[in-house]
Amino acid sequence: MRSIINILDLTVEELDELIATANDIIANPKSTAKNAGVETGYPVFEPSTRTRLSFEAAMYELGGNVLGFSEAQSSSAAKGESVADTAKTVSCYADIIAMRHPKEGAPLVAAMNATVPVINAGDGGHNHPTQTLADLLTIYREKGGFENLTVGLCGDLKFGRTVHSLIDAMSRYAGVKFVLISPEELKVPSYVKQGMKDKGIPYVQTTDLESVMPELDILYMTRVQRERFFNEEDYLRLKDSYILTPEKLTNAKQDLAILHPLPRVNEIAVAIDADPRACYFKQVLNGKYMRMALILKLLEV
Ligand code: NCD
Repeated sequence: MRSIINILDLTVEELDELIATANDIIANPKSTAKNAGVETGYPVFEPSTRTRLSFEAAMYELGGNVLGFSEAQSSSAAKGESVADTAKTVSCYADIIAMRHPKEGAPLVAAMNATVPVINAGDGGHNHPTQTLADLLTIYREKGGFENLTVGLCGDLKFGRTVHSLIDAMSRYAGVKFVLISPEELKVPSYVKQGMKDKGIPYVQTTDLESVMPELDILYMTRVQRERFFNEEDYLRLKDSYILTPEKLTNAKQDLAILHPLPRVNEIAVAIDADPRACYFKQVLNGKYMRMALILKLLEV
């Protein structure tokens, strides 16, 4: 039995395997619809649209079922039940658990107490490995691989958990460079920076998106994470730090891939959606295929 709490819990070879499975599902939608016959416990302790729906869609498409609750208020967590006890309980009913939680480390605690695999569906401002699976499949399908890419990450790099997991994942490929674009207050945390330093990955930090635009192969935009701020004034001051408009893409590469984990607030003008470089809705769909591939792997079906 194996849980996925961090994207680094999967080796590069396993990521290749998941990408191959997902590509196979995309190419042969009917023939690969296996009956997994499983149930996903889905305790969601903070809001979710894509992650929840894509896990559910993935389970149903595999022939499984889903049970769970969409908010902590409707579970015994509201009565004070611990994450450990919730995990033990859901293990009695489900074959695999996907858990989203506002506290960093909660899915790890769940994994230590569950008797079925636990997938971290986003823990606080820490990690979000399955969003990274969606990101990786999107990059793979757009670029044909991961090596020698210059990856710009823009917005809330401090609290954006998808950013932390994507940096970890991409740091394992040769020739990758990161351009970290954020306000001073929202720079990547030092533990994420240390990870890049340890692996000798080149990165630059800047506050100016337009000046670095011509270098980028990937531009990963993110939302300023309002729910993680300690005060509303700081959020209001920083929320519109970056708004990607068609004019700002003037000097961008013709084959740039623009990603965003979504939800978008106003970091990307709607006018960009029609640009062939906009990949964020493909990314949503890719998330479902990668979650199908991951569930198949963890359940060994
Ligand atoms: C992201 C998250 O929850 O961290 N959303 C998602 O799962 N696709 C990004 C965000 O909320 O900004």
